[in-house]
Amino acid sequence: MKPPLRPPTYSGVWHPNAIDEIQEKAELGRYQIRGQATKRHDLPSLDDLVFTPAGLSRMALEGYREKCDTRVTIGEGRVKRPLVLERPIMIAGMSFGALSINAKRALAIAATRCGISTCTGEGGMHPEERQYSDKLVVQYLPSRYGTTPYDLKKADMIEIGAGQGAKPGTGGVLLGLKMSDEVAAMRDLPPGVDQRSGCRHPDWMGVDDLYMKLEELREVTNYEVPISIKVGAARIANDVKLAAKADVDAIVFDGMEGGTAASPTIQLDHAGIPTVAAIAEAAEALYEMGKKEEIKLIVGGGIKNGADAAKCIALGADIVYMGTAPMIALNCHKPIYQEDYERLGTTPYECQHCHTGLCPVGITTQLPKLIARLDVEEAAQRVENFLNAMTMELQLFARSCGKNKVSDLDPNDMRALTRDVSLMTGVPMVGLNGRTPMWAKY
Ligand SMILES: Cc1cc2nc3c(=O)[nH]c(=O)nc-3n(C[C@H](O)[C@H](O)[C@H](O)COP(=O)(O)O)c2cc1C
Ligand code: SF4
Repeated sequence: MKPPLRPPTYSGVWHPNAIDEIQEKAELGRYQIRGQATKRHDLPSLDDLVFTPAGLSRMALEGYREKCDTRVTIGEGRVKRPLVLERPIMIAGMSFGALSINAKRALAIAATRCGISTCTGEGGMHPEERQYSDKLVVQYLPSRYGTTPYDLKKADMIEIGAGQGAKPGTGGVLLGLKMSDEVAAMRDLPPGVDQRSGCRHPDWMGVDDLYMKLEELREVTNYEVPISIKVGAARIANDVKLAAKADVDAIVFDGMEGGTAASPTIQLDHAGIPTVAAIAEAAEALYEMGKKEEIKLIVGGGIKNGADAAKCIALGADIVYMGTAPMIALNCHKPIYQEDYERLGTTPYECQHCHTGLCPVGITTQLPKLIARLDVEEAAQRVENFLNAMTMELQLFARSCGKNKVSDLDPNDMRALTRDVSLMTGVPMVGLNGRTPMWAKY
């Protein structure tokens, strides 16, 4: 027989993590920084929603014979060269600097084979990323590191960065070890020195300026390609309304679960709102602006599989945007090179050391010895396999709900398992929603 569980004997306020954290700050005199995402386990999530597929009251699509369309277009009827994605998935902006060149190459090859886009992230366009990506989104960030009009002209979409879910309201961090000669040259910065960048664009203070900025970027690109704006989900309804007023072609946001290569840990856990709540707010705000069909909503932050993606779409997103999941498909957290995880004081599955530049599997490093551990062709194949499996999962949920287009999923295809998520999303609770059964005797 198991012994009875004893409650912890330490304080709920001054628990070991809180004590370690204070003592570490007392030693270092600064706050902690790390990669990946929040460590919180108590956030409301997409797992609190379930699909309620067809039974007798609705007919499912036949999985093997009936088609289920996954294509989505950004900027249709708005720009000369809209961005057509064969699946409602985009690889998120992750800088060359945060990622190794082999990781960038592999992601670009996999995305091209799947008919979807990759994104430069901060720090400019690496020529090989352009070469390998059929559809490349170029980020335009406050730092303007590596940003040139020549590269903007080569973009298939421009993404104006004004924040990200892992650190809304603050900017980028790239620690010195990752500032290789090549990364530094692209950013016009000295090698080996920590880089911190702002999150406020130097030349706009409000929506009118943003409108002017959009016009400037549209002129640079000859009005050919769509322009999106990216924020971290926080005051998301207002942000969506302002972006829609400025007439962007797409709005990108990730919830507080969003991944990063380096963020202050305190911010990962205490800033922004969860993805599930943010989508519902954003979709409603866009609908209120009368632009729900015209402007695309691109949503990220903790998307792991086809179920998460299908739920995001059912809640009102058009496309999902993923950083961490494709990294995991590359090999992040893989239990190989165990001694290197140990040297970092961590283990696979717990590792969040992307900021250090000492990634054991060659993804978030600029050290040639580590980069060589990531075989580009094998890694690209793994990401392609993952994206294929995820697309099949997405179609599985759409078909089971009787939809021949993934984009036709909507909130009525789901029920909420918790009252909190039901209140956040407007998706009805499972069961009787608190009502007394009609057959109950009194
Ligand atoms: C390694 C890494 C580097 C990133 N670099 C950038 C960047 O340069 N610019 C940016 O806007 N967001 C950056 N992000 C955030 C992603 O674009 C995206 O918002 C986030 O990864 C989505 O959440 P997910 O990781 O849970 O999929 C980065 C994320 C990761 C994991
Ligand atoms: S394995 Fe590499 S990419 Fe993954 S969390 Fe660790 S350092 Fe980051």
